[in-house]
Amino acid sequence: MSAMVQAQDAGSNEQPETTQQDARRNSELGQGKNIYQIHCALCHGKTGEGYIADNAPALSNQDFLASVSDQFLWRSIANGRPGTPMAAHAERYNGPLKDAEIDLLVTLMRSWQQEESVSIPTGHRSGNVEVGQAEFTEHCAECHGQRGEGVTAVSLNNPEFLASASDGQIRWAILQGRRGTPMVAFRNQLSEQTVDNLVALIRSWQQDIVIRVTKPVHTSPQNVVINPEGSSPKFKLRAGRYVSAEQVDEAMQKGERLIILDARPTSNWDEGRIPGAISAPHHDAASTIDRLPRDGTWIVSYCACPHAYSDKLTDELRRAGFMNTAVLDEGVAWWEKNDYPMEY
Ligand code: HEC
Ligand code: HEC
Repeated sequence: MSAMVQAQDAGSNEQPETTQQDARRNSELGQGKNIYQIHCALCHGKTGEGYIADNAPALSNQDFLASVSDQFLWRSIANGRPGTPMAAHAERYNGPLKDAEIDLLVTLMRSWQQEESVSIPTGHRSGNVEVGQAEFTEHCAECHGQRGEGVTAVSLNNPEFLASASDGQIRWAILQGRRGTPMVAFRNQLSEQTVDNLVALIRSWQQDIVIRVTKPVHTSPQNVVINPEGSSPKFKLRAGRYVSAEQVDEAMQKGERLIILDARPTSNWDEGRIPGAISAPHHDAASTIDRLPRDGTWIVSYCACPHAYSDKLTDELRRAGFMNTAVLDEGVAWWEKNDYPMEY
């Protein structure tokens, strides 16, 4: 090798390495974005702005990103928040994502962070739960619900949230708020003691975690259909697409023939479903379509959002030629809350 070529090599030593790192990072971000668009954007928004469906919180919020750990983000995605529309996304809970894909999502979310992470004070502080409840009713319940069950804002009593958020993190959220969202900073409104009481109250809601994992039966086309011998329901659709809970319930009670698809991740189906509904996750419409009979049987899709996943699935079904298709208008969360039949 000539001396000149050697010199060139030595001179450019740094360059290719950084370029390689950049290329790897860009490729990871690209992959993360693809996964995010398919699985997250429909509720949390294209760039994490939040509140597209289900009051899903803002993920690109700077106060949020600066105050949570990677582990907190990872676990929120993998385990979800049982009992809320935030499904467990890890494969081991029947969710759609591999661990490496969850890593990519955490990398993507971190790329939205523009401000330094704050160091959250640890250390034990004590508060009074009873006094905290009165303060909570006055200042917080309107958005978070009397028992932290969530109304227009995230739930604070969720076992998964409480198992993964530290007291310091909860305290920080109350003091600092989340700029640009309805969660204002309470730093100047509430005393230190009041904040400690609120944290003690929120912590007192912590319970054991139950994530159910069942093995969804792989149904053949014959047992996809509910009441295969029944007659066809006469659904009246709103906007050519949406069928009311009342009509679907009536059809089931009358023993009419239909197919019900649960368009959410299978981990949500595990938690509870409309009786006879099969798990048909929106991101894998192709394998559902393979299992459906092409004989004009009515197909009703649902999710909790109340339409985000089920609209998407119904679009795919219609593109594949299934025209007797409808979306459960109110969604399954409403269905369950109004005591229509569920199977657990
Ligand atoms: C069907 C709507 C929906 C989808 C899809 C969804 N989420 Fe969520 N997500 C929510 C809701 C609602 C919450 C708040 C749950 C609660 O009340 O505890 C949430 C909470 C979160 C949190 C915790 C935020 C906080 O403030 O504690 C993270 C992180 C998160 N989601 C990330 C994701 C990612 C990443 C995806 C895609 C893999 C995703 N979510 C898909 C609705 C959704
Ligand atoms: C006007 C409505 C509103 C009120 C009142 C309110 N919050 Fe919030 N809170 C929100 C919203 C919305 C979010 C989520 C913001 C986001 O998108 O990141 C939130 C987030 C939080 C979080 C972070 C949760 C998480 O998942 O990371 C905590 C903790 C919290 N609020 C506690 C409180 C407490 C305690 C009070 C009363 C002192 C209170 N909030 C009052 C709307 C409200």
